[in-house]
Amino acid sequence: MSTELQGTIDALLQEDRRYEPSAEFHAQANVKDPAVYERAGRDPEGFWAEQARNIDWITPYHTVLEWDVPWAKWFVGGQLNATANCVDRHAHGSRRDKPAIVWEGEPGDTKVLTYADLYREVNRAASALKRLGVQQGDRVALYLGMVPELAIAMLACARIGAPHTVIFGGFSAESIADRVNDCEAKLVVTADGTYRRGSKFGLKLHVDRALESCPSVDKVLVVNRTHDPAEVNMVPGRDLWWHAEVDRSGSEIVPPEPLDSEHPLYILYTSGTTGKPKGMLHTTGGYLVGTATTHQAVFDLKDDDVYWCTADIGWVTGHSYVVYGPLANGATCVMYEGTPDYPDKDRFWALVERHNISILYTAPTAIRTFMKWGAQYPAKHDLSTLRILGTVGEPINPEAWVWYREVIGRDICPVVDTWWMTETGMILITPLPGLTTLKPGSASFPFPSIEADVVDDQGTSVPLGGGGYLVIKRPWPAMARTIWGDPERYRQTYWDRFPGSYFAGDGAKRDAEGYFWLLGRVDDVLNVSGHRIGTMEVESALVSHPSVAEAAVVGINHEIKGQALAAFVTLRGSSEPGDEQVDILRNHVAEKIGPIAKPDKVFFTAELPKTRSAKIMRRLLRDIGEGRVGGDTTTLADPSVLASIKEQYEEQEG
Ligand code: WTA
Repeated sequence: MSTELQGTIDALLQEDRRYEPSAEFHAQANVKDPAVYERAGRDPEGFWAEQARNIDWITPYHTVLEWDVPWAKWFVGGQLNATANCVDRHAHGSRRDKPAIVWEGEPGDTKVLTYADLYREVNRAASALKRLGVQQGDRVALYLGMVPELAIAMLACARIGAPHTVIFGGFSAESIADRVNDCEAKLVVTADGTYRRGSKFGLKLHVDRALESCPSVDKVLVVNRTHDPAEVNMVPGRDLWWHAEVDRSGSEIVPPEPLDSEHPLYILYTSGTTGKPKGMLHTTGGYLVGTATTHQAVFDLKDDDVYWCTADIGWVTGHSYVVYGPLANGATCVMYEGTPDYPDKDRFWALVERHNISILYTAPTAIRTFMKWGAQYPAKHDLSTLRILGTVGEPINPEAWVWYREVIGRDICPVVDTWWMTETGMILITPLPGLTTLKPGSASFPFPSIEADVVDDQGTSVPLGGGGYLVIKRPWPAMARTIWGDPERYRQTYWDRFPGSYFAGDGAKRDAEGYFWLLGRVDDVLNVSGHRIGTMEVESALVSHPSVAEAAVVGINHEIKGQALAAFVTLRGSSEPGDEQVDILRNHVAEKIGPIAKPDKVFFTAELPKTRSAKIMRRLLRDIGEGRVGGDTTTLADPSVLASIKEQYEEQEG
């Protein structure tokens, strides 16, 4: 874990800055009785059974939890449908005309879908999917920008019991193919393109390339977003326009399929410590109960709130807190297609003002970027509708936390720093804004019923004040059930390290009052701008280039992104180092994985530091990348290598 972050945290602990909930906020809060922690801790299953009453079950469940480590089943015997909960019950009730999705495209076009509208669109899309042969259990891949059709397509899949896999719109053709093939998707929904920073960004062309090697796919539905049908190559017999197919459905109603509580809702791929991403499988009942409950409690959701989670739906935050949690709660959700600096650096604040947003949930990277751009941008807008602010995805440095609270939150909005993961499905460590005294930089306490601990190498609990590995000692309803097609990897990765406990892969420290301070990843997974990237994935992309003999990728601290990728590359004999080679390799990685995985820096070195057993010592490279004097080099096969790498590095750094 990063010593710099550790230093910041230690300094902050001494400073002991804290923010109590105001009396007004406390008085109106959804959760205001501190006894909830004790009650839920004593009887977690009872707590979740109580929460499950907020979900409509088609068939009641008979057992809250069956737990045979590491295999969990929640609300066993129950049947439900996620869309019936996220859409139908609101469309058929008092929220019929309430906006469900308030969407803004990057060019400025807008669309508002009420719950009644969403109901109609989800039914039409579900009917189209069925007509195209998608059946319960079939997998559907979604590769779109942030347009309402993405949420509609997810819900349409959920309605008929076809698990979806959303592939982030920034991934390359090869990444699409890997995911589609791993889950053997039958149909792909994509768009001609999407808008990013004022330009059209093509999507369909990546799908076309990917599908050259995806035998499982027989149909592709294409949303017309950037409106250049002439530029899109529609493959006869395979590709169909989304709008035409949905129109063909007319006003057909597809009854929500009664699905087992453990029916797969979706697969979402995330980076791990090997080159192959893991398809985390989430199921229906527990996931919906977990996301709806946390969304309502952590964001203190009221019926008149306008809620905006800025995450892309391609990541888990978008699944749990743009789509399923908020819609299950009947919230009004804002969705925005583009970047925060288009047409100018005040776009987010213009959105807040225009849509009267009251709850904002974003990432530390974004906050640090806004800080750098300056307070003059938010100052142009009336942000007085905001009443609660959230962050997720990476540790937030206390300075950014305080800026967020003071500049965006008028120094009155509670800031909830929420810790969770693709694997956890729902927020697990978080303040409850009406109860928790906040400390900037700390995610504070485990959500009621969640038993988190900090342990040492042997799995022994570290006393308050100490640091170690974060583990969760009891199952929770929205936990991933397995890795698609690889249950053994699931057990090994998360449950073998500390038997009986979930190993998150994060370092953490608890202060004397038991507050949790997350310290970043302890494995070879990096968190770049809140996006998880495995160093192995980038290394394999690099070595797949003919000019590369060997590559090691490490994360180095970065002011805005949290972490940045630094690649140390050894070239093959005839290849020349230099700026041109740097560009070639960065583009090669973008080609292989996607632009988010492009190394920020590429350094050429004649050799890499290795142990006697030929293991690359990434720690030493990290030290070099962060300008530190190399640490313990006694295990190096050839200690002189390090001095030489350092020399070459300094030369190239200039
Ligand atoms: C990191 C995102 C510190 C952590 C929901 C975790 C955080 C990884 C926080 C999961 C936070 C997420 N404070 N670190 N509040 N939230 N992380 O799967 O390292 O994209 O393991 O899920 O992000 O990233 P993922």
